[in-house]
Amino acid sequence: MMRETGGFIGEVCTEMAPASGVRVVRCAFDSDRYQPGLFTELRIAMPESIARSVPKRQAEFLAGRYAAALALQYLSPAAIGSTQVGIGERRNPLWPNGVVGSISHTDVVAVCAVGLRTGLDYLGIDREALMSARVCDEVAPVVSSRPERERLCAGGLSEQAATTLIFSAKESLFKALYPLVRDYFGFEVAEATALCLEEQILVLRLSESFASKYHLPREYRCQFTLGEHWIQSLTCGKLLGRARAGVSG
Ligand SMILES: CC(C)(COP(=O)(O)OP(=O)(O)OC[C@H]1O[C@@H](n2cnc3c(N)ncnc32)[C@H](O)[C@@H]1OP(=O)(O)O)[C@@H](O)C(=O)NCCC(=O)NCCS
Repeated sequence: MMRETGGFIGEVCTEMAPASGVRVVRCAFDSDRYQPGLFTELRIAMPESIARSVPKRQAEFLAGRYAAALALQYLSPAAIGSTQVGIGERRNPLWPNGVVGSISHTDVVAVCAVGLRTGLDYLGIDREALMSARVCDEVAPVVSSRPERERLCAGGLSEQAATTLIFSAKESLFKALYPLVRDYFGFEVAEATALCLEEQILVLRLSESFASKYHLPREYRCQFTLGEHWIQSLTCGKLLGRARAGVSG
């Protein structure tokens, strides 16, 4: 499906997370080379809300949906039917039946992760540029407590990497759980409780009240990747029968 995009789409990489069978597609893009005709070229539908938005937003949306179309092709295309991904009531992507998925973008890279519902009930991905020291000072107290950051620093991360990772991991958890919760929930609902740098796992724990309100498990393993200038987080898993039965959607 590689198409001529005038340099808008750059390097495309794909990998499969071995433990979960999740397919991840990452594509570099260049907003300066965006033009609206690329939606047709890449066979991505342009929703009205996106048509009304600024070119930078159109560019990131297109790159994310293009990554999604490529990722969906790795699942069984015949079973899935369409590779178009709609927009839900709170900007959540609407996946074809039988698929769980998630999208993220930085200014230069879009990523999409997808899996089949037979193996997974929730999936969230997030990619963030490493925060500068100034941004980190502002964001850290909003997304985390001091003990959470100290825990990650004691585990071997710098202050900036610790804050960026907590932020990214919690965003991936938000995207993973939103389809089950169907409401906004803040960073205080989850705590980063353990870090294993060797295995690149961060454990997130939901507050008891939030987890029981939505019949959710309390602990989630976020698989992360640390780049030199970015961090990517993937949170996915299956619900136990009891938790599953308690969720309406
Ligand atoms: C919605 C939100 C997660 C987007 O994250 P972001 O870092 O700004 O942007 P990203 O590029 O990583 O992700 C954007 C993509 O997330 C997806 N997304 C947006 N809202 C979503 C939702 N409610 N549920 C699932 N996915 C959603 C979309 O695919 C979107 O891209 P698109 O609009 O082009 O399709 C973030 O802005 C937000 O509101 N977070 C809620 C608070 C939170 O994270 N709480 C933590 C709880 S522990």
